[in-house]
Amino acid sequence: MAIVIRRLEERDEVANFDCGDEPLNNYLRRHAWSNQEKSSIGVSFVAVDEGAPRAVLGYFTLAMASVPRDSFPKKYVRGLPPYDLPLILLARLAVDRRFAGRGLGHALISEAFHISLRAADEVGCRCIIRDAYRERMSWYARYGFVPIEGAAESGPQRMFLDLRTLRAALRH
Ligand SMILES: CC(C)(COP(=O)(O)OP(=O)(O)OC[C@H]1O[C@@H](n2cnc3c(N)ncnc32)[C@H](O)[C@@H]1OP(=O)(O)O)[C@@H](O)C(=O)NCCC(=O)NCCS
Repeated sequence: MAIVIRRLEERDEVANFDCGDEPLNNYLRRHAWSNQEKSSIGVSFVAVDEGAPRAVLGYFTLAMASVPRDSFPKKYVRGLPPYDLPLILLARLAVDRRFAGRGLGHALISEAFHISLRAADEVGCRCIIRDAYRERMSWYARYGFVPIEGAAESGPQRMFLDLRTLRAALRH
């Protein structure tokens, strides 16, 4: 397979996408295009195989957001003003289960990192956040995501990755 990651387009085939999680399937099938094109509240990127370039194998969605400074572990926000911190929300990330475990998730999150770093060069944003399913937290931790303090004990766990840490890691 020769994987390409690009912006979601209207003619992309999303109806059969199945990552095993209905909210994530539903978002891609029903909302991703209109949120991107009509509402401008999230941009989605899809992974496709060059041989079948309309069939979506995986996707992620990015949006701008902000989070109160006090939500973060103190050592990460020492010296910052008492404003909400500007950041990038990795709002969705999913891989079709027929293609899971082949590195597509890695390719997608790597692309999300590169886009986030480019955005951070132009617009102030300190980190990437993700509301991760608890059973996926260790997958995100592999990339350096750290849980934000004060999260609820059940439901998704908010995690963040400092873009300065990411930039330094990619430099090496
Ligand atoms: C999470 C998800 C995006 C990963 O995508 P993927 O293409 O299967 O991931 P990759 O192939 O890049 O990575 C697989 C690696 O992660 C590991 N892994 C899988 N699930 C893991 C978990 N819960 N915790 C830690 N590691 C995990 C695998 O062992 C594998 O390790 P290896 O690279 O050492 O072999 C995908 O499984 C998915 O879409 N799941 C359903 C939707 C979902 O849960 N989305 C995330 C919501 S927070």
